[in-house]
Amino acid sequence: MRIRLMITLMLMVFLFDGCTAPTSPSGNEEYDHLIVVGFSQVGAESDWRNANTRSMQQALSAENGFRLIIDDAQQKKERQITAIRNFIHQGVDYIVLAPTTEDGWDTVLAEAKAANIPVIIIDRMIDSSLATGDAGADLFTCWIGSDFQRQGNAAVQWLEHQFKDQPLNIVHLQGNYGSSAQVGRSASLDRGLERNPQWTLAARDSGDFTQAKGQELVETYLAQGIDFNVIFAENDNMAYGAIDALKNAGLMPGKDVIIVSFDANRRALEMVMSGEISYDVECNPLHGPRVQAVIEQLERGETPPRFTFVEESVFDSANLTQTLINDRGY
Ligand code: AHR
Repeated sequence: MRIRLMITLMLMVFLFDGCTAPTSPSGNEEYDHLIVVGFSQVGAESDWRNANTRSMQQALSAENGFRLIIDDAQQKKERQITAIRNFIHQGVDYIVLAPTTEDGWDTVLAEAKAANIPVIIIDRMIDSSLATGDAGADLFTCWIGSDFQRQGNAAVQWLEHQFKDQPLNIVHLQGNYGSSAQVGRSASLDRGLERNPQWTLAARDSGDFTQAKGQELVETYLAQGIDFNVIFAENDNMAYGAIDALKNAGLMPGKDVIIVSFDANRRALEMVMSGEISYDVECNPLHGPRVQAVIEQLERGETPPRFTFVEESVFDSANLTQTLINDRGY
């Protein structure tokens, strides 16, 4: 009797064991073959940013072999640091960071390195000592983004060329302070102001790259009676806000006030076509396929280039066509 019971029990254990579901590292088999990427995104402050997020989602899709976890930091560096720590804790395969500002990444990136998680930085740069110096040079695997000073130089040179020695009173709408996009574009305008004594800086403030703040700043300057004939907006969304403020005050953008802007989103290109924006410097947000390519290279054991500057164009009424606008992906 005892022996029969033991055999029955052994059989049950054997059968039960045979039916146990295979263990899955993630607890969800569907995901186990995918490369897990944690993406710490700046926020959703602009059309550019949303196009950048979409590009990442499209390229790092399950169909392409990825599981993408996006964290929206709402333009706050502290939230990005927390997100990166969470990604490390979750044991993601790769971390992609679009940094809000350039400084403050040493500690958390050292933590990612200690956890053996490659970090790919996109869009803006982090502090240059990490980028080029010996100390932390390998805290990230590679960077893909824009040359923001080159973008700023293009806008300043256009103003110089267009208005020669005419006096310009410039309102400068800056991005969030400390971001490479702000630092590079502002540095270019500063050099332009130094080179052109007939230019004056009428007002300058940060509109955080948002349309609402761009509009608010220009409304304030108009209410204060500040005299200006140029707006140097460090992105399209602030330019849209500025245009609304000008129109509400009965001024004609492109005639009473010249607007130069950055990003060259489709909506902004339409405004270049209609003459409201006079010059727009492209900032390309389509980093998704570039990040995909880099990860695939790393997976094959190859070494991707450490720094990749993306190709970008400039637009004014002279080179813009409707076909170009229609073909714009963002
Ligand atoms: O870093 C890129 C900049 O950030 C874009 O010019 C701006 O629109 C965005 O928010």
